[in-house]
Amino acid sequence: MDSNDAGRGLGGGQTGGREEWGSRLGFILATLGSAIGLGNIWRFSYVAGDNGGGAFLLVYLVAILAIGLPLLLAELALGRHGRSDIVQTFARVVPQRPSAQWPWRVVALTVVAGAALILSYYSVIAGWTLRYFVDYLVDLLVPVAAGPVARDHAAAFAEFIADPVAPVGWHALFMGLTVGVVVLGVRGGIEAASRILLPLLGLIVLGLAVYSLTLPGAMAGVAFLFAPDWSALAERRVYLAALGQAFFSLGLSMGVMTTYGSYLSRRHRLPGASATIVAGDTLFAVIAGLAIFPAVFALGMLPSQGPTLAFVVLPQVFAGMPGGGNFALAFFALLAAAALTSAISLLEVAVAYAVRRWAFSRRRAAVAVGTGIFLLGLPSALGFGVLSGVQILGRGILDAVDTAVSALVLPLAGIAFAVLVGWVWARHEALAAADLTGHWLARPWLCLLRYGAPAVVAVILLRSLGAL
Ligand code: PHE
Repeated sequence: MDSNDAGRGLGGGQTGGREEWGSRLGFILATLGSAIGLGNIWRFSYVAGDNGGGAFLLVYLVAILAIGLPLLLAELALGRHGRSDIVQTFARVVPQRPSAQWPWRVVALTVVAGAALILSYYSVIAGWTLRYFVDYLVDLLVPVAAGPVARDHAAAFAEFIADPVAPVGWHALFMGLTVGVVVLGVRGGIEAASRILLPLLGLIVLGLAVYSLTLPGAMAGVAFLFAPDWSALAERRVYLAALGQAFFSLGLSMGVMTTYGSYLSRRHRLPGASATIVAGDTLFAVIAGLAIFPAVFALGMLPSQGPTLAFVVLPQVFAGMPGGGNFALAFFALLAAAALTSAISLLEVAVAYAVRRWAFSRRRAAVAVGTGIFLLGLPSALGFGVLSGVQILGRGILDAVDTAVSALVLPLAGIAFAVLVGWVWARHEALAAADLTGHWLARPWLCLLRYGAPAVVAVILLRSLGAL
């Protein structure tokens, strides 16, 4: 494939050697592919389930619009302007004196590390989805085998994740796939994968939601998701959970959108692209919620089950459906695929850095960084079995890392991005990079970045840290 298309710029590229997206649609699909992932299905459903459903959704929507959208535009603008990895991009927009350069260098490197940390446990969960996929496949091909359809799902899942070997193996396999796509390059790997996988994923989740809604008792699930329980709004943790989920689901402040933006040519209009990505990601999460909650309630289960929700409830739903095995197969294949299109974006942040910083080949960078991230994920992979004794603030390892990322790393990095683009970057340059010069949205955008986002995020963080 055309992994060597560097240099064949599509016009508008200033630096001859940098790879670029093949088309506007390809870019939108790749960024949507990054945004849509386990966060929309696995994470959204359990966080909404733990935080009161409808009330959570409301706070989440406000967070997405008021903070997510402006930050997404800021990151894309930063990336397209910098046309490099995140560390060099930061260096290009902050004042050239050393006292301004080094602190932002530290921030940028922290962001690269944050992306690696997310991928380390993201890959573990993605590994679970791969294993479910293979299980259902075996079940379909060898109908007599007692596959997941015949089992007690909660017990089977608990047994699987407690195993000392299997979760590590699936984690390794998933990281291998992620490295494989990234090796193929921006257009031949990342864009091509997103083009194929994303439309399929949309169809499957829609089909599942329609089915779920026809189950007897489904409306209780719809009510849970859409009818706000106002008393939940009095709980501080709901705000932090919604904010963290907004950052996680849009894949914000981890340098992903900055890096993807760096492969854009000038022909794209960023405000429209940002709105499309936000709308697509949110719609996907809501539809996934409609696939999951009606089924949870129809089966008489509780929505607040934590991170295992999708892995225990859905197999139960599939088991009760005529032809459920096929549906399950498709669902877990595509869940793994959604995870893959997000994982490649997380890996690309560090790969882009390594390629520029140490002049590594793309292949070498992807393999080296991928191996490091695999090792970093081992404690998360083993945290339900061998390492289940390790509890951090009452949580298992994976849960603790996920909470630390969404409640601390992402919001703090979000403030850093808002300050960088709102205050540090020259105003006219930032506006031009965001395609907002002379636009009526220029002022609201800058205001949100300068005051709104940092203030709201800081207040929510400070008020709720005690409630973790
Ligand atoms: N947005 C992805 C998801 O919803 C995860 C992700 C987080 C991707 C952070 C990039 C950066 O699954």
